[in-house]
Amino acid sequence: MSTRLSNIKKAIKYLNKNDCIAIPTETVYGLAANAYSDKATSKIYKLKKRPKNNPLIVHYYKLEDLEKDCHINSNFKKLYKKFCPGPISFVLKLKKNSSISKNVTNNKNTIAVRFPKHPITRNLLKKLKFPLAAPSANISKSVSPVTKGDVIDEFGNRIKFILNGGRTKIGLESTIISLVSKPTILRLGGIERNRLNKILDTKIIMNNSPSKILSPGQYKLHYSPGIPVRLNVKKAKIDEAFLLISKRKNKSKNFFYLSKNKNLKEIAKKLYQTLRKVKKLGYKSIAVERIPKKELGETINDRLQRASNY
Ligand code: TXA
Ligand code: MG
Repeated sequence: MSTRLSNIKKAIKYLNKNDCIAIPTETVYGLAANAYSDKATSKIYKLKKRPKNNPLIVHYYKLEDLEKDCHINSNFKKLYKKFCPGPISFVLKLKKNSSISKNVTNNKNTIAVRFPKHPITRNLLKKLKFPLAAPSANISKSVSPVTKGDVIDEFGNRIKFILNGGRTKIGLESTIISLVSKPTILRLGGIERNRLNKILDTKIIMNNSPSKILSPGQYKLHYSPGIPVRLNVKKAKIDEAFLLISKRKNKSKNFFYLSKNKNLKEIAKKLYQTLRKVKKLGYKSIAVERIPKKELGETINDRLQRASNY
């Protein structure tokens, strides 16, 4: 049996026993458990040290499975057709007869759902009899993991199994859009705002203000590497890690390139890993060059802004 297959078998074994494991997605690694089980989902909160009122995203393999748990509508269908599987989560109305654990939704009548694209996790979901609740696989408020090593950094041996899927392709979490009433973006993410506007043929409103928290992932301090982060810096101090997005003529050991030619996809992909790396190297603060706010740059700036509220 290939290692890949035997690992999926192991993953299934743990999940069927109501344990949590880490799974790769195209955005970041998730801490996954049976979304239908109170016991399994309560372990996620405990391991992540996550407040109980912060609901979880549920991951599905196919539409028919999702329709057992929530109501879909025409806006959902349009976005689903264009972007799924992919880095977008939808907040929808929960069905009364759904088997989703109340831990997942914090007893509310809405649920966040998505179809991840990573082939290993799709293969896993296909073989399970239940969907997977999976928040990012990090301790609450810290930086999301993009490799197996990052997950080990977060949980050490407190996690029983990590399904290895290599470094995640996108490196930032999914975009969250609520479709319960008027479409509203609750969290910027892997799909740019303009692409969503185009499909729904409207300028979608945003609500990521911390005063009206619909999506607690929008708390002001989040995605934090645990040391101060300064933004829009032209010249860093010598003892600061300097994260750059375009090539400099001079060299310095505190320079860390997210990209050498302002490539936003590359910057997104390297951001979390670089934040982790410079902290490990012992830097006590981080300076980041200005990153354009267009396209994926809007999400990157959102995360950096929250990381900088240290
Ligand atoms: O890319 C992703 O979305 C990753 C991967 C693992 O799928 N997951 C992820 O999960 O980022 P998490 O838990 O770290 O962030 C999910 C966000 C949280 O801010 C949570 O508050 C919000 O989704 N959320 C979950 N259910 C919700 C609901 N019913 N209404 C509003 N927000 C919700
Ligand atoms: Mg998270």
